[in-house]
Amino acid sequence: MKNKLEKLRVDFLAGLEVVGDLPTLRDLELKFLSRKGELSRLLGELKELSLDFRREAGELANTVKRELQEKFNERKDALEKKIGTGSFFDPTIPGKNFASGTLHPLTLVRRELEDFFATFGFSVVDGPELESEFYNFESLNVPAHHPARDMQDTFYVDQKNKQGEYDLTMRTQTSNTQVRAMKKYGAPLRVIMPGRVFRSEATDARHEHTFYQLEGVMIDKNINFAHMKSVLEAVGKKLYGPETKLRMRPKFYPFVEPGSNGEYTCFLCHGEGCRVCKYSGWLEIVGCGLIHPNVLRAGGIDPAEYSGFAFGFGLNRLAMLKYSIDDIRLFNGGDLRFLKQF
Ligand code: DAH
Repeated sequence: MKNKLEKLRVDFLAGLEVVGDLPTLRDLELKFLSRKGELSRLLGELKELSLDFRREAGELANTVKRELQEKFNERKDALEKKIGTGSFFDPTIPGKNFASGTLHPLTLVRRELEDFFATFGFSVVDGPELESEFYNFESLNVPAHHPARDMQDTFYVDQKNKQGEYDLTMRTQTSNTQVRAMKKYGAPLRVIMPGRVFRSEATDARHEHTFYQLEGVMIDKNINFAHMKSVLEAVGKKLYGPETKLRMRPKFYPFVEPGSNGEYTCFLCHGEGCRVCKYSGWLEIVGCGLIHPNVLRAGGIDPAEYSGFAFGFGLNRLAMLKYSIDDIRLFNGGDLRFLKQF
């Protein structure tokens, strides 16, 4: 009996030594210490011994039992501490709440327009934010000496390009991607080019140095002003409802001829005149026109064969109108109280 107890003790302690997790410890407990375990079985055998032996062996068995139970508890405590949790998973404890973000209002407006233009067969194209003067200005029919450069307060970058010249700017307009797209994909072409643009502006509630535009280009044989008008009309109805009307007034942009300003009837007063439209009944939303032959040529497209139209929306302005945002600086301000509303 003594030997059997000793063997059980040694086996158990050896097992305890190598146990590394709670489930294995539980197995060990079942095997040795539970009611049907080996220790209980040995205690059961005590009955068969003569009275003298029984007392002695009984005492020894109890000492061993106490020792093993103690060692077991120590190990269990240590393992639980290591894991840092209780010994069981409590399914009634409420789950952890992870704060989830929301999409930025500019992203919402951009995606809405991307989806819309996709139904007209336009693809989405990306352009670089750090741009050469060539793509931002020259290719768009704005040579260095041209007064139209003054229309946009440009950040020129104090760094040379690969040819060793200073000609880098933060792009002032998504129009920078027009000629890039023409060169890459050729004609016919149907693309929109949403993105971030930069101007060296003094900021206030209506001016920001960093904002977003969505540019579009459609080039094919015999594209004319009517095509442009119908596409822009459809955009207006999509943005502000089926009653929306478009009016176009001539405006000079160097990269289009004729160039135009697109205005939609005010979504709030439907043309009556209100605070949002500054009592004019119209909202100035988009710049557009038929692409200048020089721009088509810069993109490697023959203006005798193809024509096209281009347009540019200010996404911040669209989002401000849509969500009644009265200060453009909120978009880049990073204020969660603002962002959480979308
Ligand atoms: N790039 C112009 C701006 O930032 C907007 C614009 C006007 C884009 C006319 C066009 C266009 O494509 O045809 O003010």
